[in-house]
Order: sequence, then structure tokens, then C-alpha cells
Amino acid sequence: IPVDEFDLVIFGATGDLAHRKILPGLYRRYVAGQIPASAQIIGAARTKQDDKAFREEARAAIREFAGKGDDLSQIDDFLNHLGYVAIDARGSDGWAELKSRIRPGVVHAFYFSVAPALFGDIAQRLAENGIADQHSRIVVEKPFGRDLATARDLNATLARHFAENQIYRIDHYLGKETVQNLMAVRFANMLFEPLWNAQYVDHVQITVAETVGVGGRGEYYDHSGAIRDMVQNHMMQLLCLIAMEPPYHFDPDAVRDEKLKVIRALEPLEPGDIVRGQYRGSPDGSDYLKDAENPDSRTESYVALKVNIANWRWTGTPFYLRTGKKLRARTSEIVVTFKAPPHSIFDESDGPRSNQLVIKLQPNEGMDLTVMIKEPGPGGMRLVQVPLDMSFADALGANGTDMPDAYERLIMDVIRGNQTLFMRGDEVEAAWAWTDPIIAEWEAGSKRPEPYDAGSSGPEEALRLLHRDNRRWREIR
Ligand code: BG6
Repeated sequence: IPVDEFDLVIFGATGDLAHRKILPGLYRRYVAGQIPASAQIIGAARTKQDDKAFREEARAAIREFAGKGDDLSQIDDFLNHLGYVAIDARGSDGWAELKSRIRPGVVHAFYFSVAPALFGDIAQRLAENGIADQHSRIVVEKPFGRDLATARDLNATLARHFAENQIYRIDHYLGKETVQNLMAVRFANMLFEPLWNAQYVDHVQITVAETVGVGGRGEYYDHSGAIRDMVQNHMMQLLCLIAMEPPYHFDPDAVRDEKLKVIRALEPLEPGDIVRGQYRGSPDGSDYLKDAENPDSRTESYVALKVNIANWRWTGTPFYLRTGKKLRARTSEIVVTFKAPPHSIFDESDGPRSNQLVIKLQPNEGMDLTVMIKEPGPGGMRLVQVPLDMSFADALGANGTDMPDAYERLIMDVIRGNQTLFMRGDEVEAAWAWTDPIIAEWEAGSKRPEPYDAGSSGPEEALRLLHRDNRRWREIR
């Protein structure tokens, strides 16, 4: 779908996110024919360099971070869209030049790919210099605060210069193909929604397992931990999409209103419903304390939670969430386990009897529904559980690498002016309001996270979180 003519300014254009995600993402959209002929992408950062030098920097970044299957033959043409302005976020240098580069009458988007401490300075200078107006859009990244108070401050800072409908808060999980598919599966089919409640769903598991550790970003991570880094944002968004009521329309505020209701309905967590872990002294030598360069760190690199949603639909159905670094496999999935039929007419007493819907988010996107059937053959009526397995890549004939990356999609949504996949300020604040007490309770104590080996499925304690409820985690593989 073509988008309107635009000028996109990337503050922090020489940084890691711009190199890894934003520039390669824009290039892929260019190859897909989605970047209009006169669109400008203007890098802005402190480094003094000219357009030419920035184009070379972008070329190197795209070469390094483009996907394996990407066609690199159009880089030169793409680079013609790029420009650069050296700018001082806290001073006056560069702002007049930036203003002279921006064209009137096209979509203006400003991507704040910088530390949150600079959001206020940049917003103010954009406004003071008459560069941004009430039609401009700004894009901000996580971390959006580190607790409720700082998130409120950030929201208030941005609100001084921009209205809520101009602010695009990125949670890149919302840009993932299958995450959006959650809404399609739930609300475009009759099959699941009638069963989607505590009467028929036994429990839900949400797993985001990673194989990477925190080496290289240990300092940032050690001040954050899995709850701030993954649960408050990405996992919370997944939980909302799985648990929310049907919005009346696929419209930004209708969707975000429903997500907000889920967050507000979360019960406060009991200390016994959370397990924190840290990868330690593993056979392969990896150790969180070394990676974090903090021998006393109590920061969790793994967390598992049992969450209850106190509303009519979900009371009685727990949601178990877990995420961690240095686990056995990189896999993100949501498993909805339905209740067993109330009565079995077959003689089998101990066979598996529950249907499970597994929604695989990554690495291979797809869905898997387990159903019971009769075991083929003359052996009488014996039941077996079989998967109805669907890989989206196979089913749709697309090869996985053709799926747009989350950032590509989200940046194009900004240009289109569609906020559905972005977090609203009140959602972010509600999520912090729920996680703050969990973090405060931990910080007030002196307990240490449970150790686990790199390459495992996390600490033993996390298994017990489900065992005590007579349930089991689905294996991480
Ligand atoms: C980021 C976190 O937001 O998400 C990282 O800061 C994490 O710690 C990453 O590794 C996971 O994203 P993805 O897309 O690789 O699942």
C-alpha cells in the first residue's frame, strides 16, 4: 500500500537502533516500492558529517544488518533519499538547517532514537524553531520510564508540545506478524471466541525465551532486569491481546481501550506467584554476574509469574508468563490449554484429553492445535493426540524472510498515521502501576534470584510454580 510523501527525521541516526533496525527497515520498504519518489530521510545526531558521509554510514549498516534474502542492488538509489544534519539536542546548532530541509505540505515524522533524557530537549526545540506543528508525528522507543513516576514525567514532557494522537510509542512486539495475527485469529473466526473464557480455558502460558545473554549491554540490563525489560512492555502487550474483549472496530482507540481494561484488571501479584532467576556458573562458562560486571547483582535475567485477571471472562483461569536470557532455545509462543471434556465416553482414563492451541510467534510463525482422534488401525477405540499444524510461511507460500520486520511495519504505520499498534500513554502508565509494587517488594528484600544453567529451561523453582497447580510448562525447544 503506497504511503503519502514524507520527511522523516531520525534523531540518534548514528546509533545502534538506527543502524540495526531503522535504516535496514526503511531500505526494505524501499525495495518493496513503498517509499515515495521524493521522500526524505534525514539523519540528525551530534557527529559532524555531511550527507555523503552519512550515506556511506547507512550503506555499511544496511549491508551488515539486512536479512539474508535481501536484494542489495538498490542501495545506491535508496541512499539518494538520505540526508544529514549535525544537531545539538541541548543547544542551538543545526536547528535552523533542519528547518530549511523540511518541506511544507508533506507528512513530518520525527523519530526520537535517543536516550529518554533528551526527549524533552528535542521536543522543545522542534516546537520553538517552528519545525514541528500540530500535524507532525513523533516516535519514541522504550524504555518508556523505569517506573510509574518516570513514565508520567515523560508523558507530561511530551504532552507539553504534542497531543496524544501525535505520539507513537513503539513496542516492537506489536509490529510482529503473528502478534497482529492474534487479533485476526480471535476476532475473524467463530471457532475460538465462544470458548475463550474461564469456563473453557484451563490456563494460558506465554513464553518468550532467548538464547542470548546480557553480555555487551550488561550495565543497562543490570539496572533493568527481565520485569522492566520484557514484562512491563512486550509480555504485557501479548497478555492484553490474548485476554482483551473484542474491540468494536479495528481502530486505534477502540483496541487500546480494551487493552487498558485488561491491564487495569490485573490482580496485584503475591510474592509466591513470582520466580526470579539468574544464569550462573554454567557449564559453558556463562555467568550473569560477569556479564553484568556486578558480583552482587540481584537483578533477574529470568522471571516466571502467575497472573490473574479479575474480570468476568477470566477469573479462575491463570496466565503463566515466563521470559529469560540464555535459555535452551529462542522461542516465543502462547499456549492456550482448554479444559478437558466434562465426561469421557471412552475407556481411557489417563490419556491426554485437553486441546491446546499453540500460537508460535518466533522463530517460525504459525499455529498448532492439538486434537484427539482415534488411533488408526484395528486395535479398537484408542485415542491419540495429533497436531493440526500450520506454518504461516508454508500456508501462505511466503518464505519467512519476506515477512516485514516489526520496525518496517511500525515506521510505515507512523507515516500512514495509524496508531493501532502503538502504546497509548495511559496504557504504559497502567502497566507500570502494576509492575511497580512487584519490583518494590523485591528491592526491599534481600533474597537472591534462583540460579539456573545457561542452556536450560530456567530455574527449578519456576517448574514448581505450575506443579503446585497440577500443570506443566510446555517444553522450550
Ligand atoms: C528488547 C529487550 O526490547 O527486546 C531485549 O530490551 C530483548 O533484552 C529483545 O532481547 C527481544 O526482542 P526480539 O524481537 O528479539 O524477541
